[in-house]
Amino acid sequence: MDTKDVTINANDFEYSFSVGTKFGQLSASETLAETLRNRLGLTGSKEACNEGACGCCTVIINGNAVTSCMTLTVDCDEKNITTIEGLANPETGELDPLQQAFLDRYAFQCGYCTPGIIMASKALLDKNPTPTDTEIKEALSGNFCRCISQYHVIEAVSDIAKGVQK
Ligand code: FES
Ligand code: FES
Repeated sequence: MDTKDVTINANDFEYSFSVGTKFGQLSASETLAETLRNRLGLTGSKEACNEGACGCCTVIINGNAVTSCMTLTVDCDEKNITTIEGLANPETGELDPLQQAFLDRYAFQCGYCTPGIIMASKALLDKNPTPTDTEIKEALSGNFCRCISQYHVIEAVSDIAKGVQK
């Protein structure tokens, strides 16, 4: 019987999975959110709606912000994935400036949505380092927060866009 492998690169580490229906194999219907959280222990990306509506599970795949609950892992073969765990400096532990800006601006409360919002913001800033507030709002239009008004988030992302160091 043919077996297929899927190899993903998550936060600069390579992981290979055998696809199939046997115990331990990657099911063809397994989502990337499930793989990241349940197999790799990367629990920063949150599963909430599981239908692409809230953005809590957002990760970056080959430079684009993607909802991992709506992405099949088998479709991520040979792709580069960055999760919230991949932002801090792996050697020093220093936070990414965007993470620090969220802290400085108190841009979260319970924090459940925050990894997804940061990853969507990161994808935006990587493509467009100086977005306007309107562009920031558009980029984050798929990310929902139950706790706070979004303006703290806009301020944090805008600080990075303007090069503000607090
Ligand atoms: S959990 Fe993926 S969009 Fe809500
Ligand atoms: S900070 Fe609680 S859901 Fe956004």
